[in-house]
Amino acid sequence: MRVCVRVARVLNPARKLECADKKRSIIATLSACCGNMTRFGFFMTLPTDPLSTLQQRRKKIIENISPEKLAVLHAKGSLSARERMGALFMEGSFQELGMHAHHNAVAFGMEGRELPTDGVITGTGYVGSTQVAAFSQDFSLLAGTMGKMQARKIVRLMRHALRVGVPMVAFKDSGGARIQEGVDALSGYGDVFYYNVMLSGVVPQIAVILGPCAGGAAYSPALMDFVIMTRRNAYMFLTGPEVIKAVTGRSTTMDEVGSAEMHASVSGNVHFLAENDQHAIALVKQVLSYLPPNNTEDPPHDFSVGIDESADEGLRDLVPKDSSEPLDMRVIIQRLVDGGELLEVHANFARNVIVGFARIAGVVVGVVANQPMVMAGALDMDAADKISRFVRTCNVYNVPLVTLVDVPGFLPGVEQERSGIIRHGAKMLHAFASCTTPKLTVIVRKAYGGSYLAMCSQEMRADMVFAWPSAEIAVMGAEAAVKILYRKELDQASDRRAMATELTQQYREKFASPYVAAANFYITDVIDPADTRWMLALALRKTLGKRELRPAKKHGNMPL
Ligand code: HXC
Repeated sequence: MRVCVRVARVLNPARKLECADKKRSIIATLSACCGNMTRFGFFMTLPTDPLSTLQQRRKKIIENISPEKLAVLHAKGSLSARERMGALFMEGSFQELGMHAHHNAVAFGMEGRELPTDGVITGTGYVGSTQVAAFSQDFSLLAGTMGKMQARKIVRLMRHALRVGVPMVAFKDSGGARIQEGVDALSGYGDVFYYNVMLSGVVPQIAVILGPCAGGAAYSPALMDFVIMTRRNAYMFLTGPEVIKAVTGRSTTMDEVGSAEMHASVSGNVHFLAENDQHAIALVKQVLSYLPPNNTEDPPHDFSVGIDESADEGLRDLVPKDSSEPLDMRVIIQRLVDGGELLEVHANFARNVIVGFARIAGVVVGVVANQPMVMAGALDMDAADKISRFVRTCNVYNVPLVTLVDVPGFLPGVEQERSGIIRHGAKMLHAFASCTTPKLTVIVRKAYGGSYLAMCSQEMRADMVFAWPSAEIAVMGAEAAVKILYRKELDQASDRRAMATELTQQYREKFASPYVAAANFYITDVIDPADTRWMLALALRKTLGKRELRPAKKHGNMPL
């Protein structure tokens, strides 16, 4: 209405418009001359007062989805774009940015096409006591596609997150670039990617994939810290089945190349699998509960929790007598962390290692561990990627690390070597050595060769390394070592097996024991497993104040 009046004054500045009738006639004349003006957001019927104009506009934007369509969404475990924001934020804390923004596209039938919010709701609110910036793509509006205005809204929000230092949450549900807007849409994506990188390592970024996320659009989640994806309704790929068939001739399915399950377990693009929208939003809140709002602050430690120095004797029985038998590291972790609660990250990917967030006597920690129940806990390429990524995430958000070791080595194999296990394994060394947060390591059992170093040994500048009496720290496993050291003697032995057993035992006593490493001061202490929990708790409190200066550089050159 104000705009209309201003237009009218420009046309005839000397004359004051005194009544609505005159305004209406001028607008009618303008529309006749300029064509359909709804694309500029004008209302052709003028309401009687400005407040009801505002109310009508807001209602139209907020209630853009019909009850029937909403019921369909709910039936499949989805929420509307606005309901997602409502479920994320504390009631009454949401402030929308750019509610009235609208596209200016005209080509391919876009002229005059109304797209309230331009298909994305952007704004800020509170999750607990933390301000969070979030956007939610609205699939009901031209498939939530990204045009120039949608990108501008998202970028404006990202700049707010960066300036103020608050986490960013992105609800993704979109058909990708808005085809009608051509290069404007592409450029919009480019701006969003640029800001994803600017925010990276400054504020936590969480992508939640709740619908399609196709083409280059998938790069934005990939640039964020965590990706959560719903098991049904969501899929993500660069090129879908049709394009793959056209280019390669191979038939495939959406599930094979883009399902949440596949990304959570095979590609590793997804960190958390959610059953439905509500579960995905609950996961966002859980992740945020372990992180600071930005890289200049500490995670939300709870120092009101005291340190219980009583022994947990059950921990003594968890390592099998026979060192070739697997132990379940998840059970050990649960006994060490508050309430047995571990928020496992990448739980379905590279299951031979475990990473996740927990608290020990109230202090937030990132737990990194081998899982001997899968592939004996050996490190392969995926495991190396999973650990390196998590360690770097903890480092940028000041989260201390607790590493639990039972590792027989890097996985031997033609495929591993040919696919670059050296490069992937080196990422772990780079990540741990670069990490300046408190680093505590517990060697539970095996710690062999390069994998001993790669699991945050003292040489990677772990602040304290504790070993259980069951620890075997050596260049390699005793059996393999004896075969190499005594090949000739074994070949000539009358009883090869007896000789091998004896030599293996000798090697184990001499080298694969924690006391050799302790005598050479490569570890801080050999501890009773029952004391592990309180010793970690105490060590964490003592190392939280750690400050470490590194040589000035743009950034290290991690092998990728
Ligand atoms: C413009 C689009 C669109 C798009 C869908 N629509 N995708 N409009 N640009 N990318 C429109 C449809 O024409 C339709 O408009 C409305 O949105 C709903 O779409 P439907 O197809 O009816 O819905 P549905 O059957 O649920 O299928 C959804 C879909 C499908 C699977 C997402 O629409 C689809 O495959 N779209 C194309 C996806 C894609 O190829 N994206 C990549 C674009 S290129 P009407 O008017 O009928 O309501 C890209 C590169 C980015 O993203 C590079 C960045 C670096």
